[in-house]
Amino acid sequence: MEHLVSSWCNDRSLPESYILPPEKRPGKLTVPLANNIPVIDLGGHDQTDLIQQILEASQEFGFFQVINHGVPSNLMDEAMSVFKEFHALSAKDKAIETSKDPNKSCFIYTSSHNYATEKFHFWRDGLVHHCNPLEKCIQFWPEKPPRYREVVGPYTAEVSNLAFRILEFISQGLGISLGGLGANQTLLVNHYPLCPDPSLTLGLGKHIDPVFINILLQSDVYGLQVFKDEEWVGVEPIPNAFVVNTGYPLQIISNGKLKGAEHRVVTNSNVARTSASYFLSPSNETLIEPAKSLVDASHPALYKSLPYKDFLIKYIAAFTDSKALEEALSTAV
Ligand code: OGA
Ligand code: NI
Repeated sequence: MEHLVSSWCNDRSLPESYILPPEKRPGKLTVPLANNIPVIDLGGHDQTDLIQQILEASQEFGFFQVINHGVPSNLMDEAMSVFKEFHALSAKDKAIETSKDPNKSCFIYTSSHNYATEKFHFWRDGLVHHCNPLEKCIQFWPEKPPRYREVVGPYTAEVSNLAFRILEFISQGLGISLGGLGANQTLLVNHYPLCPDPSLTLGLGKHIDPVFINILLQSDVYGLQVFKDEEWVGVEPIPNAFVVNTGYPLQIISNGKLKGAEHRVVTNSNVARTSASYFLSPSNETLIEPAKSLVDASHPALYKSLPYKDFLIKYIAAFTDSKALEEALSTAV
């Protein structure tokens, strides 16, 4: 396995392979915090109003934050603690704890899925594991830190409920059925160690998530930025909130009505950052295509129809190059 950033970053200045070409560097490190990214109170009782708020946010930003979402705050705090403890383990322990499943439903990687071929690397380690069905997956999850399974099991169960609730609001808002589609549920625990020079590198390059939705637990450390109206804006950490974003498959299914928003993560020289993405994705065989009810003579299909597994191959090949991806998926060629 490639060497995890966290296993060597304390000893060195920024290696050349992490220095981005000038046009991809973060530029200004302090961008405005996006206080216009909607914060939606899920505790509200007017469902029609909630659906409207969620749909508008997904159309305009592809991002919103949710509060009063029902996931207990102590569970969120405990999960964040064990995520940090996991990434603080030795590289050897991390390798052992992520090799319990021969089918690799739990693994650790660094930078991106293209580490071997990418021109430059990103300052990030990621722990990934499947979350459903829980009773089948949990046996392959880390056993160190000792409370990992005990805390992350209930955490993923709660976040899964929340994710399905939000996906249901979105499908009602679009007037389509996404029922049964959120088949794959994975957790990606990102760790962005202290970085010697945040101006030259990124924790995660500009990308759109290849999933229906992501329910992100960001710590109290800022780092996430969204590309909106040709500008990068920061997503403010709000205590006990989740950041929700819609991904590419929803952009395709909604025939461009919803946005898979481009985002990235900047690094930090004072404090390490840990975040956890809970991804709800289609099953491999699901056809990803514009919903029939959203296509007519005046709204032609903007995207080709592809099984999700083929979508993913194109996605990984074009990672961080959204123009190339749009060309690969669009009907306009
Ligand atoms: C991701 C992602 C953002 C963050 O996991 O796809 O964009 O703040 N994470 O770590
Ligand atoms: Ni992302």
